[in-house]
Amino acid sequence: MANQYQDNIQAVVWGDNACLKLLDQRILPAKYHYIEYHHSADVASAISDMVVRGAPAIGVAAGYAIVLAAKKRFQQLSSSWQSDIEKDLDILAQSRPTAVNLFWAIERMRDVISVTEGDPFDILLTEAKKIHQEDITANHIMGDLGAKLLKNCSGVLTHCNAGALATGGYGTALGVIRSAWAAGHLKSVYADETRPWLQGARLTAWELIEDDIPVTLIAEGAAAALMQSGKIQWVVVGSDRIAANGDVANKIGTYGLAIMAKHHGVKFMVVAPTSTIDMSIKHGSDIPIENRSADEVLYLNGQRVAAEDAHAWNPAFDVTPANLVDAIITEKGVVEKPDMDKMLGLLQT
Ligand code: MRU
Repeated sequence: MANQYQDNIQAVVWGDNACLKLLDQRILPAKYHYIEYHHSADVASAISDMVVRGAPAIGVAAGYAIVLAAKKRFQQLSSSWQSDIEKDLDILAQSRPTAVNLFWAIERMRDVISVTEGDPFDILLTEAKKIHQEDITANHIMGDLGAKLLKNCSGVLTHCNAGALATGGYGTALGVIRSAWAAGHLKSVYADETRPWLQGARLTAWELIEDDIPVTLIAEGAAAALMQSGKIQWVVVGSDRIAANGDVANKIGTYGLAIMAKHHGVKFMVVAPTSTIDMSIKHGSDIPIENRSADEVLYLNGQRVAAEDAHAWNPAFDVTPANLVDAIITEKGVVEKPDMDKMLGLLQT
């Protein structure tokens, strides 16, 4: 199904002058500014610091960062670049722990590194671009698959930002919403603000408005009342890592939404490419959850909002058990009511 939404918004761009350009998501929507990167360690910092965020976008950025690393290591010492670059891969791997797409992309680039002879630049750049393009293609496929499930749905709620900004382009959860909107299935889209980084208020709302899709923001505390009002039939979210049994790690607050959805008879959809599935982790309880600085909760725009001496706990993600998930949408197909057998079956197709 074609729709009018092109991939206008690009979080990750390979620059003409052989550098990586990342749209600085910390300052959107007030400022639209790309930062240029020439060193992979700086890209690792950009991932930790949330210049680029969202599981698939982190994977795409890491692929390009490895191209930068290989260029430098090969210029430094062409005989040992393949072992020297391991230090750069380690630094990238330490940037954020939960999104498995990061480790998936590093492994994929490492496989190419191991069989590369001579100057690695072109061959690694080709692979990084392939990772990027495959992600965009997967998002369009998932958009169409997910939109079919939203056929008789008037309203949806999404959490965090799982859009073009969080991916190679088009988006996972927002890709489904874009496709469903284009197909005329949806009447209203709600986004919650998503404390503490406000990805919903700053990024999701901006993306949807850029595409002329009307969006209504709610405070996270309004989600239960929204469901009770009967205005939404589905919650649609992305994921940072899906365990083999179908448990889903995603932005903190997702689990609460899934519980509320079950209570109100609202359905719960997770949209993620297969690069987000980690079959080496059997249960969601084993997914590493990033704990970020307490200051992200205690301060807003550099201003302390919490009472002096208050402490904060700031897990960036939570895990939604598979039994609260109605459908996982991937580019390989849809898994309804996920469990280990169904996830295995999906990956064997
Ligand atoms: O901390 P963030 O902004 O990187 O968290 C992002 C999310 O939780 C997204 O929902 C997830 O990465 C899926 S993005 C397609």
